[in-house]
Amino acid sequence: MATDASDPIPRFPDGFLWGVSTSAHQIEGAADRREASVWDVFTAEPGRVKDGSTAAVACDHYHRYREDVALIAGLGVDAYRFSISWPRVNSHGGLDFYDRLVDELCAAGVRPVPTLFHWDLPATLDWLRRDTAARFADHVAVVAERLGDRVAKWITLNEPAEHTLFGHALGAHAPGRQLLFDALPVAHHQLLAHGLAVRALRAAGARDIGIANSHGPTWPASGEPADREAADFYDLLLNRLFAEPVILGRYPDGMDELMPGDVAADLAVIAEPVDWYGVNYYAPARVGAPVGGDTEYGGLTLPPGLPFSVRDIEGRPVTDFGWPVVPEGLTELLCGFRERYGDRLPPVVITENGCSYAGTDDHDRIAYLDAHLRALHAALRAGVDVRGYFVWSLMDNFEWAEGYARRFGLVHVDFATLERTPKASYHWFREVLRSQG
Ligand code: NOJ
Repeated sequence: MATDASDPIPRFPDGFLWGVSTSAHQIEGAADRREASVWDVFTAEPGRVKDGSTAAVACDHYHRYREDVALIAGLGVDAYRFSISWPRVNSHGGLDFYDRLVDELCAAGVRPVPTLFHWDLPATLDWLRRDTAARFADHVAVVAERLGDRVAKWITLNEPAEHTLFGHALGAHAPGRQLLFDALPVAHHQLLAHGLAVRALRAAGARDIGIANSHGPTWPASGEPADREAADFYDLLLNRLFAEPVILGRYPDGMDELMPGDVAADLAVIAEPVDWYGVNYYAPARVGAPVGGDTEYGGLTLPPGLPFSVRDIEGRPVTDFGWPVVPEGLTELLCGFRERYGDRLPPVVITENGCSYAGTDDHDRIAYLDAHLRALHAALRAGVDVRGYFVWSLMDNFEWAEGYARRFGLVHVDFATLERTPKASYHWFREVLRSQG
């Protein structure tokens, strides 16, 4: 059934969970009230962040959370996905902040959905070390003990793929390492941390646990075998490497041989069943065989020697970030997952989807979200069990190495005055939610 943008967005099933998302380092500020994270260290180094900014203040959400919860409640969403900063919890009284935030959300009728790791690792820790996984599980137990009476839905990790790739393989994100394939232990230790965290959460009585992995279809640049092979490899690294240990309990294509430790025993932990599987979707990637000279990827110049190159997707509008707008990629991705993993695929929640555009009269964002909701509905109609959708992001925030220039919010933030102004997309989303009942 074809729909166009003038038709109302089709109805999603009863009980479908609607939400908005953020993460601690990107919005909280109040850097004086947390231990340093790898991102504090990284952003203090000249040249790491494009506009030279840091997240020391960011949206100052730490002090303005009441105003922000009112904006969330005003949208009419069911749930708010935020992250709990491990270095803040480590500092005296840090967990009190999340206690207050969770209370405020509950009082406003919004379900808290915390992510337990969204890249801001305490600066004293290192994912190259195996014991970081056990330390994470201990931390998770403390958080669950304190908040578990009011938090129903938990997310262990956010995008371990990006944290591995950008943070440890390519060096564009904290902690800024360029280990290329020697970064693989970082992937394994995060996955192990995920499995241990699922166990720690269940031991604390939690019953609704997932992970937020980033995924996108990988399109070969051509039908040539070399391009297909390169695209398969990219798909292996960015999609399968993170999905299959969690969903199937094994690494794809012999990747286990490249991982450290007793991998078989670790996989049994990593495969601890999740109640749902979170997908962050932004765009597909077009990938081909390596080409000579510099190649670009997400604003980065890739080092030479990689067995693939990432190409432009032509003929599509792009966001301010330069990312192509390909809504049907979401349908393709979810139907592809369903085909690949069959009944082993847990119910899916879209834990992030959104785009960066400037301005408050952001009709481009409305068009993006509108088209992606239709594409998501198409996946539901095709039989994929999708249970929820979270927009990235509630408000403009610190977009990592891009600084404050990329605006993903439904709410505009003036970073000089910290004033919040709902954008056209905020009002539009509220109407969508209202029409969904
Ligand atoms: C993925 C990350 O989880 C989030 O932190 C980031 O801001 C968005 N994508 C947009 O790049």
